[in-house]
Amino acid sequence: MKIATIGAGYVGLVTGACFANMGHNAICVDIVDGKVDKINKGISPIYEKELDEIIKRNVGKNLTATTDIERAAKDSEIIFICVGTPSRGDGRINLKYIKKAVKDLGGILKKLDYKLIVVKSSVVPGTTENILIPTIEENSDKQAGRDFGICVNPEFLREGLAVEDTLNPDRIVIGEFDKRSGDILYELYKNFKCPILRVNLRTAEMIKYASNNFLATKISFINEISNICQKLDIDVCEVAKGVGLDHRIGHHFLNAGVGFGGSCLPKDLKAMIKLSENNEYNPRLLKSVLEINENQKLKVIETIKSIMDLNGKTATVLGLAFKPETDDIRDAPAITIIEKLMEENTEVRVYDPKAMENFKTINNKIYYANNIDDALKDSDLCIILTEWKEFRNIYEKILNMKKPRVIDGRRVLDKEKANELGIEYFSV
Ligand code: UGA
Repeated sequence: MKIATIGAGYVGLVTGACFANMGHNAICVDIVDGKVDKINKGISPIYEKELDEIIKRNVGKNLTATTDIERAAKDSEIIFICVGTPSRGDGRINLKYIKKAVKDLGGILKKLDYKLIVVKSSVVPGTTENILIPTIEENSDKQAGRDFGICVNPEFLREGLAVEDTLNPDRIVIGEFDKRSGDILYELYKNFKCPILRVNLRTAEMIKYASNNFLATKISFINEISNICQKLDIDVCEVAKGVGLDHRIGHHFLNAGVGFGGSCLPKDLKAMIKLSENNEYNPRLLKSVLEINENQKLKVIETIKSIMDLNGKTATVLGLAFKPETDDIRDAPAITIIEKLMEENTEVRVYDPKAMENFKTINNKIYYANNIDDALKDSDLCIILTEWKEFRNIYEKILNMKKPRVIDGRRVLDKEKANELGIEYFSV
């Protein structure tokens, strides 16, 4: 089939590249020239496992990128909207980019025959029906269902595993305005080996938010249990293992530590809280999930302060990305923790295998080290905030510090081994 993705970020680019790899024709549209040029040269503008190879293999054949949304719309049967829906200051989602995308698309649809528009961007329940469809109709003088089709098709990919998740999803959710729209999207997905759920538009939107909110809840839950465990001298990792063996619970997302970051879990939680409040419901559980997560970052500073005075000291932060295998630093715990360290008059040295260039754009007052040894040089303390593989076996390097001392925010090191070697070890 012929598809276009509007927005060539994580979702749009991976969707376009994966469908192209499956033999469909894909055009990725983006407003940033540099991004489009890179894709057309076979280079991925984002760091994501396997993506470079897939782009290289298909570009110039059945994968192209362009800034020309009109050309892309004309040449496709299905148009995926994949633009960002970031948080506004008050937690509500910012619909600026998606409104602009559907407005432009509406103008273009005026001159075209039936197309299927698919909303892949995360939008809170009701957005497609109440805002996006009316915008398209107004700008195209066409009617949803009759002149163009519309679906909501939430994305469940994880950064770092985006290609794998797109090609092998747990489920596909098709939210359909009408049967005709749903049938077209079903045709594109019918060969995937996973359940395909067909629901209405607002249910599909809610499935996306409920999924991310639940994952966030699991993390804050285990962090709360971890905080209680610490008071009682119990190892939360063993507890999580024992709890996770219950098949109704499962072991995923039970890693205690500095909490969740990234462009999705915090944003989707805040958006759901706001949406509930605007609909006269007080989402107590979701508010607590967010509060616990914010506290986990502050706990790092509290833990350090309970063992040493930070004033005038040097601290090393290993890991800036919000999780391993990505260079993404959006809402990363490292942002808040480094700010707090600086407020305590602490000199900060950092190292991350992939995310330093991104971090430099938001903080140029810290030292960016060339490697782990360089980061630990003359440091009083090592704080691990991302579980990169290369941080797993750094005992010798820590032993070379003037005082081997680690705050492990991701339980990367083995506590017993660290203690046996004479490393002062604290987990969060
Ligand atoms: C998340 C969801 O997992 C995806 O299903 C969803 O498609 C995506 O958001 C999205 O909405 O686009 P992602 O943000 O890539 O994916 O990252 P996760 O793997 O979910 O991790 C989020 C954060 O939780 C990371 O900071 C991670 O370190 C933290 N985490 C995860 C924990 O602190 N403990 C855990 O046990 C698991």
